[in-house]
Amino acid sequence: MASQAVICIRDLRVEYETPGQPPHAAVKGLNLVVNQGETFGFLGPNGAGKTTTMNVLLGFVKPTAGGATIFDVSVGNPSARQRIGYLPELTYYYKFLTAVELLRFYGRMFGLRGAEMERRIETVLNLVELQDAGRRQIKTYSKGMQQRVGLAQALINNPDLLVLDEPTSGLDPIGRMTIRAIIQRLKQEGKTVFFSSHELGEVETVCDRVCILHRGAVCAEGSIQDLTRGKENLEEVFLEVIGFKKAGESLS
Ligand SMILES: Nc1ncnc2c1ncn2[C@@H]1O[C@H](COP(=O)(O)OP(=O)(O)OP(=O)(O)O)[C@@H](O)[C@H]1O
Ligand SMILES: [Mg+2]
Repeated sequence: MASQAVICIRDLRVEYETPGQPPHAAVKGLNLVVNQGETFGFLGPNGAGKTTTMNVLLGFVKPTAGGATIFDVSVGNPSARQRIGYLPELTYYYKFLTAVELLRFYGRMFGLRGAEMERRIETVLNLVELQDAGRRQIKTYSKGMQQRVGLAQALINNPDLLVLDEPTSGLDPIGRMTIRAIIQRLKQEGKTVFFSSHELGEVETVCDRVCILHRGAVCAEGSIQDLTRGKENLEEVFLEVIGFKKAGESLS
């Protein structure tokens, strides 16, 4: 069966305008396809253009040129967002709310009500392993727990596509492992997961394919297996393709 494209980015260019300065091109002619059921790692150094690209997918930033579709709907059309769950790079939740209250708030935005809402909240809290803490205020949560509330929020509408901007940022190894297990569970459920990360070891474990972005352009793309063939690991590939380390050269 032919794979179905979930995200399709075509010749995407994004320039930021700052008064008194020439436009800054954050994304320069990006082409990318993410297929149904794939776990796709969106990699690149700080400032490479990952968040900018995700913001285009979410409709927060308008392309300067080119564009993107999600499930064949242009990202300029708000209905493209119906089937997406999104975890932003920085999350700010009202800390006096409990996770259950926060999830009710987001659930209402997607039209959930009554028993269906409560069932869905229970499902996502179980999925992110917060079932026992769901009725405590978020201000009492550790960073790892707050990150999992963010994931629960992204999952409340039972989306087919998850866009996660650095879901494991700042987490300890156990926190990262938990998020990794959640991503793997989502994959088993047939969800498509598109996420950015600087944790290359973890990306290697969980992703089917990756794209390495550098200065707004793709410098490597493929399956982990293909990219790491003959290399020590994904980190070596990453350092080489961004020009930090030449093939075969040791850093030490
Ligand atoms: N709102 C903005 N206005 C002007 N420039 C911006 C804006 N947002 C991002 N940029 C610039 O665009 C470039 C890409 O930034 P972006 O946040 O997309 O990178 P990133 O790959 O997500 O980096 P990181 O790994 O640090 O999160 C950077 O040079 C950044 O300074
Ligand atoms: Mg970013």
